[in-house]
Amino acid sequence: MRVLIIGGTSAIAGETAKAFAKDGAHLFLTGRNTAKLEAVADDLRVRGAAGVMTARLDVADIASHRQVIETAIAGLGGLDVALVAHGTLPSQAACQERVADTLDALHVNLTATVALLTVLANELEARRAGCLAVITSVAGDRGRPTNYVYGAAKGGVDIFLQGLRARLFRSNVAVVTVKPGFVDTPMTAALKKNPLFADAGRIGRGIHRAIIRRKDVVYLPWFWRPIMALINRIPERVYKRLHF
Ligand SMILES: NC(=O)c1ccc[n+]([C@@H]2O[C@H](COP(=O)([O-])OP(=O)(O)OC[C@H]3O[C@@H](n4cnc5c(N)ncnc54)[C@H](OP(=O)(O)O)[C@@H]3O)[C@@H](O)[C@H]2O)c1
Repeated sequence: MRVLIIGGTSAIAGETAKAFAKDGAHLFLTGRNTAKLEAVADDLRVRGAAGVMTARLDVADIASHRQVIETAIAGLGGLDVALVAHGTLPSQAACQERVADTLDALHVNLTATVALLTVLANELEARRAGCLAVITSVAGDRGRPTNYVYGAAKGGVDIFLQGLRARLFRSNVAVVTVKPGFVDTPMTAALKKNPLFADAGRIGRGIHRAIIRRKDVVYLPWFWRPIMALINRIPERVYKRLHF
Protein backbone atom coordinates (compact mmCIF):
# COMPACT_ATOMS: atom_id res chain seq x y z
CA MET A 1 0.00 0.00 0.00
CA ARG A 2 1.26 3.49 -0.90
CA VAL A 3 0.29 6.05 1.73
CA LEU A 4 0.71 9.84 1.74
CA ILE A 5 0.28 11.60 5.09
CA ILE A 6 -0.07 15.40 5.18
CA GLY A 7 0.81 16.52 8.71
CA GLY A 8 3.12 13.57 9.24
CA THR A 9 4.45 14.91 12.55
CA SER A 10 0.99 14.92 14.16
CA ALA A 11 0.77 12.61 17.18
CA ILE A 12 -2.44 11.00 15.90
CA ALA A 13 -1.18 10.60 12.32
CA GLY A 14 2.07 9.14 13.69
CA GLU A 15 0.08 6.36 15.34
CA THR A 16 -1.80 5.67 12.09
CA ALA A 17 1.53 5.61 10.26
CA LYS A 18 2.83 2.99 12.73
CA ALA A 19 -0.13 0.73 11.85
CA PHE A 20 0.61 1.14 8.13
CA ALA A 21 4.31 0.51 8.77
CA LYS A 22 3.37 -2.76 10.48
CA ASP A 23 1.51 -3.71 7.27
CA GLY A 24 4.74 -3.10 5.32
CA ALA A 25 3.37 -0.02 3.51
CA HIS A 26 5.34 2.56 1.54
CA LEU A 27 4.91 5.92 3.27
CA PHE A 28 5.41 9.54 2.24
CA LEU A 29 5.18 12.08 5.05
CA THR A 30 4.95 15.85 4.78
CA GLY A 31 5.38 18.42 7.54
CA ARG A 32 7.04 21.74 8.21
CA ASN A 33 9.57 20.52 10.78
CA THR A 34 12.08 18.45 8.79
CA ALA A 35 14.08 17.21 11.80
CA LYS A 36 10.90 15.90 13.45
CA LEU A 37 9.78 14.37 10.14
CA GLU A 38 13.07 12.48 9.81
CA ALA A 39 12.79 11.18 13.37
CA VAL A 40 9.27 9.89 12.65
CA ALA A 41 10.47 8.33 9.38
CA ASP A 42 13.37 6.53 11.10
CA ASP A 43 10.99 5.06 13.65
CA LEU A 44 8.59 3.86 10.93
CA ARG A 45 11.43 2.13 9.03
CA VAL A 46 12.31 0.18 12.18
CA ARG A 47 8.64 -0.74 12.57
CA GLY A 48 8.50 -2.45 9.18
CA ALA A 49 7.61 0.18 6.58
CA ALA A 50 8.78 -0.89 3.13
CA GLY A 51 10.03 2.65 2.56
CA VAL A 52 9.55 6.10 4.06
CA MET A 53 10.07 9.36 2.19
CA THR A 54 9.53 12.87 3.49
CA ALA A 55 9.09 16.39 2.14
CA ARG A 56 8.75 19.79 3.77
CA LEU A 57 5.30 21.30 3.40
CA ASP A 58 3.79 24.23 5.24
CA VAL A 59 0.14 23.76 4.28
CA ALA A 60 -0.47 27.49 4.67
CA ASP A 61 1.57 27.93 1.47
CA ILE A 62 -1.13 26.78 -0.89
CA ALA A 63 0.92 27.49 -4.03
CA SER A 64 3.31 24.69 -3.03
CA HIS A 65 0.68 21.96 -2.58
CA ARG A 66 0.54 20.59 -6.11
CA GLN A 67 4.28 20.20 -6.50
CA VAL A 68 4.67 18.36 -3.18
CA ILE A 69 1.74 16.06 -4.00
CA GLU A 70 3.20 15.30 -7.43
CA THR A 71 6.61 14.58 -5.84
CA ALA A 72 4.95 12.22 -3.36
CA ILE A 73 3.02 10.33 -6.04
CA ALA A 74 6.14 10.02 -8.20
CA GLY A 75 8.20 8.84 -5.19
CA LEU A 76 5.58 6.29 -4.14
CA GLY A 77 5.00 5.15 -7.72
CA GLY A 78 1.26 5.82 -7.34
CA LEU A 79 -1.15 6.51 -4.51
CA ASP A 80 -3.55 4.25 -2.60
CA VAL A 81 -4.26 6.31 0.52
CA ALA A 82 -3.96 10.00 1.39
CA LEU A 83 -4.50 11.05 5.00
CA VAL A 84 -4.87 14.77 5.70
CA ALA A 85 -4.04 15.21 9.37
CA HIS A 86 -2.54 18.67 9.95
CA GLY A 87 -4.36 21.10 12.22
CA THR A 88 -4.09 23.88 14.77
CA LEU A 89 -6.25 24.56 17.81
CA PRO A 90 -6.48 28.34 18.03
CA SER A 91 -7.24 30.29 21.19
CA GLN A 92 -10.92 31.22 20.92
CA ALA A 93 -10.29 34.33 23.05
CA ALA A 94 -7.50 35.48 20.69
CA CYS A 95 -9.71 34.86 17.67
CA GLN A 96 -12.47 36.98 19.18
CA GLU A 97 -9.94 39.74 19.81
CA ARG A 98 -8.12 39.73 16.47
CA VAL A 99 -9.55 39.06 13.02
CA ALA A 100 -6.08 37.94 11.87
CA ASP A 101 -6.07 35.05 14.36
CA THR A 102 -9.48 33.88 13.16
CA LEU A 103 -8.42 34.07 9.52
CA ASP A 104 -5.15 32.20 10.24
CA ALA A 105 -7.08 29.41 11.94
CA LEU A 106 -9.54 29.18 9.05
CA HIS A 107 -6.70 29.28 6.53
CA VAL A 108 -4.81 26.31 7.99
CA ASN A 109 -7.79 24.21 9.14
CA LEU A 110 -10.27 24.90 6.34
CA THR A 111 -8.86 26.66 3.26
CA ALA A 112 -5.58 24.72 3.09
CA THR A 113 -7.40 21.43 3.71
CA VAL A 114 -9.91 22.14 0.93
CA ALA A 115 -7.06 23.15 -1.40
CA LEU A 116 -5.16 19.90 -0.70
CA LEU A 117 -8.30 17.82 -1.14
CA THR A 118 -9.05 19.44 -4.48
CA VAL A 119 -5.69 18.29 -5.88
CA LEU A 120 -5.77 14.87 -4.18
CA ALA A 121 -9.35 14.17 -5.25
CA ASN A 122 -8.54 14.77 -8.91
CA GLU A 123 -5.49 12.50 -8.70
CA LEU A 124 -7.45 9.60 -7.18
CA GLU A 125 -10.48 10.17 -9.39
CA ALA A 126 -8.28 9.84 -12.48
CA ARG A 127 -6.91 6.55 -11.08
CA ARG A 128 -10.45 5.33 -10.24
CA ALA A 129 -9.13 3.80 -7.01
CA GLY A 130 -7.88 4.71 -3.57
CA CYS A 131 -8.93 6.28 -0.32
CA LEU A 132 -8.90 9.86 0.94
CA ALA A 133 -9.10 10.22 4.74
CA VAL A 134 -9.33 13.49 6.64
CA ILE A 135 -9.22 14.21 10.36
CA THR A 136 -11.98 16.67 11.22
CA SER A 137 -13.44 16.77 14.75
CA VAL A 138 -16.59 16.40 16.82
CA ALA A 139 -16.11 20.15 17.29
CA GLY A 140 -17.38 20.53 13.71
CA ASP A 141 -20.75 18.94 14.54
CA ARG A 142 -22.09 21.88 16.55
CA GLY A 143 -20.61 25.26 17.44
CA ARG A 144 -19.59 25.82 21.04
CA PRO A 145 -18.97 29.23 22.60
CA THR A 146 -15.47 28.17 23.68
CA ASN A 147 -14.16 26.93 20.31
CA TYR A 148 -16.46 27.89 17.46
CA VAL A 149 -13.71 29.22 15.17
CA TYR A 150 -11.98 25.82 15.17
CA GLY A 151 -15.42 24.17 15.02
CA ALA A 152 -16.44 26.24 11.99
CA ALA A 153 -13.28 25.18 10.13
CA LYS A 154 -13.80 21.49 10.94
CA GLY A 155 -17.53 21.71 10.15
CA GLY A 156 -16.72 23.30 6.79
CA VAL A 157 -14.35 20.44 5.96
CA ASP A 158 -17.04 17.97 7.04
CA ILE A 159 -19.60 19.41 4.58
CA PHE A 160 -16.96 19.53 1.82
CA LEU A 161 -16.23 15.83 2.43
CA GLN A 162 -19.91 14.89 2.24
CA GLY A 163 -20.12 16.23 -1.28
CA LEU A 164 -16.71 14.90 -2.27
CA ARG A 165 -17.63 11.40 -1.04
CA ALA A 166 -20.76 11.36 -3.23
CA ARG A 167 -18.75 12.63 -6.21
CA LEU A 168 -15.88 10.15 -5.84
CA PHE A 169 -18.13 7.17 -5.07
CA ARG A 170 -18.74 6.94 -8.83
CA SER A 171 -14.97 6.58 -9.33
CA ASN A 172 -14.45 3.90 -6.67
CA VAL A 173 -12.58 6.32 -4.39
CA ALA A 174 -13.48 6.14 -0.69
CA VAL A 175 -13.68 9.34 1.38
CA VAL A 176 -13.29 8.74 5.12
CA THR A 177 -14.31 11.49 7.56
CA VAL A 178 -12.61 10.96 10.92
CA LYS A 179 -14.17 12.73 13.91
CA PRO A 180 -12.12 12.32 17.08
CA GLY A 181 -13.28 13.67 20.41
CA PHE A 182 -10.67 14.86 22.93
CA VAL A 183 -7.27 13.24 22.33
CA ASP A 184 -4.20 13.59 24.53
CA THR A 185 -1.65 15.07 22.08
CA PRO A 186 0.58 18.17 21.91
CA MET A 187 -2.43 20.05 20.47
CA THR A 188 -4.34 19.66 23.73
CA ALA A 189 -1.34 19.85 26.08
CA ALA A 190 -2.66 23.05 27.67
CA LEU A 191 -6.18 21.69 28.27
CA LYS A 192 -7.28 20.26 31.59
CA LYS A 193 -7.72 16.49 31.10
CA ASN A 194 -10.97 14.66 31.84
CA PRO A 195 -12.08 10.99 31.47
CA LEU A 196 -13.28 11.63 27.91
CA PHE A 197 -9.68 12.13 26.72
CA ALA A 198 -8.43 9.24 24.57
CA ASP A 199 -4.88 8.17 23.94
CA ALA A 200 -3.43 8.94 20.48
CA GLY A 201 -2.58 5.26 19.87
CA ARG A 202 -6.23 4.23 20.11
CA ILE A 203 -7.31 6.99 17.72
CA GLY A 204 -4.47 6.34 15.27
CA ARG A 205 -5.28 2.62 15.08
CA GLY A 206 -8.97 3.48 14.66
CA ILE A 207 -8.11 5.65 11.65
CA HIS A 208 -6.05 2.84 10.09
CA ARG A 209 -8.98 0.44 10.57
CA ALA A 210 -11.47 2.93 9.08
CA ILE A 211 -9.25 3.41 6.01
CA ILE A 212 -8.80 -0.33 5.45
CA ARG A 213 -12.59 -0.83 5.80
CA ARG A 214 -13.32 2.21 3.58
CA LYS A 215 -15.75 3.64 6.15
CA ASP A 216 -17.68 6.84 5.42
CA VAL A 217 -17.75 8.63 8.80
CA VAL A 218 -16.11 7.39 11.99
CA TYR A 219 -16.32 8.85 15.47
CA LEU A 220 -13.28 7.98 17.59
CA PRO A 221 -13.66 6.59 20.16
CA TRP A 222 -17.06 5.21 19.09
CA PHE A 223 -18.93 6.74 22.07
CA TRP A 224 -18.71 10.22 20.52
CA ARG A 225 -21.38 9.24 17.97
CA PRO A 226 -24.18 8.91 20.58
CA ILE A 227 -22.81 11.88 22.55
CA MET A 228 -22.94 14.11 19.46
CA ALA A 229 -26.36 12.75 18.48
CA LEU A 230 -27.64 13.89 21.87
CA ILE A 231 -25.89 17.27 21.69
CA ASN A 232 -27.29 17.87 18.19
CA ARG A 233 -30.83 17.29 19.47
CA ILE A 234 -30.68 20.04 22.11
CA PRO A 235 -32.98 22.85 20.94
CA GLU A 236 -31.16 26.07 20.07
CA ARG A 237 -33.11 28.05 22.72
CA VAL A 238 -31.62 25.73 25.39
CA TYR A 239 -28.23 25.25 23.72
CA LYS A 240 -27.48 28.98 23.63
CA ARG A 241 -27.68 29.07 27.44
CA LEU A 242 -24.98 26.40 27.88
CA HIS A 243 -21.35 27.41 28.24
CA PHE A 244 -18.93 24.61 27.45
N1 LIG B 1 -6.01 16.30 19.87
C1 LIG B 1 -7.33 16.40 19.82
O1 LIG B 1 -8.02 16.44 20.85
C2 LIG B 1 -8.03 16.38 18.48
C3 LIG B 1 -9.41 16.20 18.49
C4 LIG B 1 -10.10 16.20 17.28
C5 LIG B 1 -9.41 16.38 16.10
N2 LIG B 1 -8.05 16.59 16.14
C6 LIG B 1 -7.38 16.80 14.86
O2 LIG B 1 -6.43 15.79 14.69
C7 LIG B 1 -5.41 16.25 13.79
C8 LIG B 1 -4.06 15.91 14.37
O3 LIG B 1 -3.87 16.63 15.57
P1 LIG B 1 -3.05 16.05 16.81
O4 LIG B 1 -3.98 15.92 17.94
O5 LIG B 1 -2.26 14.88 16.38
O6 LIG B 1 -2.12 17.27 17.18
P2 LIG B 1 -0.57 17.57 16.94
O7 LIG B 1 0.27 16.43 17.38
O8 LIG B 1 -0.32 18.91 17.53
O9 LIG B 1 -0.49 17.64 15.35
C9 LIG B 1 -0.86 18.76 14.62
C10 LIG B 1 -0.04 18.70 13.37
O10 LIG B 1 -0.43 19.73 12.45
C11 LIG B 1 0.76 20.27 11.91
N3 LIG B 1 0.56 21.61 11.39
C12 LIG B 1 -0.02 22.67 11.98
N4 LIG B 1 0.05 23.74 11.16
C13 LIG B 1 0.69 23.34 10.04
C14 LIG B 1 1.08 23.97 8.84
N5 LIG B 1 0.83 25.28 8.62
N6 LIG B 1 1.72 23.25 7.90
C15 LIG B 1 2.00 21.95 8.11
N7 LIG B 1 1.68 21.27 9.23
C16 LIG B 1 1.02 21.98 10.17
C17 LIG B 1 1.74 20.27 13.07
O11 LIG B 1 3.03 20.42 12.57
P3 LIG B 1 4.22 21.02 13.47
O12 LIG B 1 4.78 19.83 14.20
O13 LIG B 1 5.15 21.59 12.46
O14 LIG B 1 3.60 22.07 14.36
C18 LIG B 1 1.46 18.89 13.64
O15 LIG B 1 2.14 17.89 12.93
C19 LIG B 1 -5.67 17.73 13.59
O16 LIG B 1 -6.38 17.93 12.38
C20 LIG B 1 -6.57 18.08 14.76
O17 LIG B 1 -7.38 19.21 14.48
C21 LIG B 1 -7.36 16.58 17.30
